[in-house]
Amino acid sequence: MKTRITELFGIQHPIIQGGMHYVGFAELAAAVSNAGGLGIITGLTQRTPADLAHEIRRCREMTDKPFGVNLTFLPTVSSPDYPGYIRAIIDGGVKAVETAGNNPAKWMPVLKEAGIKVIHKCTSVRHSLKAEAIGCDAVSVDGFECGGHPGEDDIPNFILLPRAAEELKIPFVASGGMADGRSLVAALALGADGINMGTRFIATKEAPVHDNVKAAIVAASELDTRLVMRPLRNTERVLNNAAVERVLAKERELGASLKFEDIIGEVAGVYPKIMKDGTMEAGVWSCGMVAGLIHDVPSCKELIDRIMAQAEGLIRQRLAGFLAG
Ligand SMILES: Cc1cc2nc3c(=O)[nH]c(=O)nc-3n(C[C@H](O)[C@H](O)[C@H](O)COP(=O)(O)O)c2cc1C
Repeated sequence: MKTRITELFGIQHPIIQGGMHYVGFAELAAAVSNAGGLGIITGLTQRTPADLAHEIRRCREMTDKPFGVNLTFLPTVSSPDYPGYIRAIIDGGVKAVETAGNNPAKWMPVLKEAGIKVIHKCTSVRHSLKAEAIGCDAVSVDGFECGGHPGEDDIPNFILLPRAAEELKIPFVASGGMADGRSLVAALALGADGINMGTRFIATKEAPVHDNVKAAIVAASELDTRLVMRPLRNTERVLNNAAVERVLAKERELGASLKFEDIIGEVAGVYPKIMKDGTMEAGVWSCGMVAGLIHDVPSCKELIDRIMAQAEGLIRQRLAGFLAG
């Protein structure tokens, strides 16, 4: 399939694996890229720029296909060494960067200078237009369904994607709730040039996370996610568990006076315990409503081949069939 996204990133299929903390290691990024999608290493999961440089080298040993790096710009007081991470990306010859969080305007000149294609993750049309205005090559439009941070507007993809299509000139991928060929065909129909998947790629053979994480996603239904940190205007969609229940109880109890420090034990530094050790109740972790559509743990190639075959079947048979006669 050829779309503006496959052309932009030089990939076979219009499928991107979104950056995911403690999931987006070289193993997953390489597996997605080898299967014809765009794999993404999560920059900030690597503790230092030197560690990221090492991870990029590892990924390159596992694939000769294009892959990218996610840079999440956090509103933190002690900012990570972003110039160092960007240097590692440029020196590592990476040609695609997925930015997320704060506006990446400050970093655009250096990224563009290095010939890097930038796709910015946005949860609203106004942020997407801002990304277009500052020179991003594409956007990843994250609807309310998405795992991780859906923003504060709560607009689901059935509205957000066609709204983005009405306004944007640059290509965009649909993100949040994408799982299969049906998602891809629907996203294309709504104006996207591809899809971005997070949660679906965690439940794959190559995702370097504990089997408990994959099992939890397969067991979960579309009813099992919750939104935490809404009072802090830092809303995150997570899989429900005992830690999430504790956070929500705190939020109800403290209302508008809730501070990050009140819940820090449940949300900060918990990813290694969950993703590596499989201690599923250790804290809150991002997961999309799409868990309800995830019933197995295929390899990335099986998953991507299946998505493309299903999409082609839907377009050629189901959709064309409605027009025949
Ligand atoms: C476990 C997990 C960790 C994530 N970590 C990040 C991250 O560090 N940076 C980022 O930009 N997005 C992160 N995301 C968001 C994904 O890249 C993607 O946008 C989102 O998962 C799409 O929604 P879906 O899960 O419904 O596919 C994360 C998502 C999950 C599920």
